[in-house]
Amino acid sequence: MLLDTFGRQAVDLRVSLTDRCNLRCTYCMPEEGLQWLAKPELLTDEEIVRLVEIAVRDLGVREVRFTGGEPLLRPGLVGIVAACADLEPRPELSLTTNAVGLARTAEALRAAGLDRVNVSLDTLDPETFRILTRRSRHQDVLDGLAAAEAAGLLPVKLNAVLMRGINDHEAPDLLAWCLERRYELRFIEQMPLDAQHGWDRSSMITAEEILERLSARFALTPEPSARRGAAPAERWLVDGGPGRVGVIASVTRPFCRACDRTRLTADGQVRNCLFATGETDLRTALRSGAGDAEIGELWRAAMWGKKAGAGIDAPEFHQPERPMSAIGG
Ligand code: GTP
Ligand code: 5AD
Ligand code: SF4
Repeated sequence: MLLDTFGRQAVDLRVSLTDRCNLRCTYCMPEEGLQWLAKPELLTDEEIVRLVEIAVRDLGVREVRFTGGEPLLRPGLVGIVAACADLEPRPELSLTTNAVGLARTAEALRAAGLDRVNVSLDTLDPETFRILTRRSRHQDVLDGLAAAEAAGLLPVKLNAVLMRGINDHEAPDLLAWCLERRYELRFIEQMPLDAQHGWDRSSMITAEEILERLSARFALTPEPSARRGAAPAERWLVDGGPGRVGVIASVTRPFCRACDRTRLTADGQVRNCLFATGETDLRTALRSGAGDAEIGELWRAAMWGKKAGAGIDAPEFHQPERPMSAIGG
């Protein structure tokens, strides 16, 4: 098991498959992109599957989420999903994606064993999308969403980050749009994980503000069990239900005490927290011939050292060196 000194157990593994992305969301990456990992630094498909197998078989991991950068850019994605779906015990498999290109791959991903997708979409307006992501791919995302639904990758969840003066006025429209389509929308407080280190606490749209904006149009009642287990989203019933909306308040209402995550970066480093300052190198161990037991031991030790929390709001907080796109969110 992957335990830490605060009594938490990590059962949810987030695997970053690439640090590259085909969008340039302003809260994430600069226009020119970043210094990408070189091919030899990346874990191979086989190395990824071996690590997931160790996590699932020996370490108690039950859910595996593939992230990026943009995971659809990984050429071997469908094969990786298929190999992970063959593992015993079979983990739940999900994908967090910007959905550009999902229209082409949703069916194959479903056939390979993917269970569901979370799609990032911050706006319904193509022009705002272009400004926010610096790419004109809004229609691709809408097509990707429709394909995910048609392929049965359910429930489709949507992630939206609100930015003051750019898309914050859209919150109720986004919710109405998602309710119509039965997508589960979650608004996310922006975290200090941008490569440009431009995050500013005072301009961030807080959970409280998000709820206030939604309440102007909808009646929100907290779900009886407001947050399920370790899920980061707190959920509200909209107009009495069954529609819902979630808020992921990583900054103002951190959920670190219930955190059940462990992370693997595309270059084979374990991170015990999104905001960890250190990492544990599994790639070197893998490539120097370490056995499964030895790798499991390294992973356990990595998680044992997990801190109590991220402490984003604390004065001594330091943003991690790795940006969001290279951690996998
Ligand atoms: P499900 O609810 O299981 O579908 O997944 P999720 O919401 O955990 O995953 P997703 O990849 O959609 O992430 C949504 C947001 O939650 C992103 O902004 C993530 O960065 C954030 N998030 C995911 N895990 C953590 C975490 O451990 N800590 C914090 N603070 N935020 C997280
Ligand atoms: N803060 C919060 N969420 C972020 N995402 C990307 N960067 C940030 C940030 N700085 C979101 C994306 C995606 C999810 C994986 O994380 O919009 O939905
Ligand atoms: Fe790409 Fe996601 Fe970063 Fe946007 S937030 S640039 S979609 S990795």
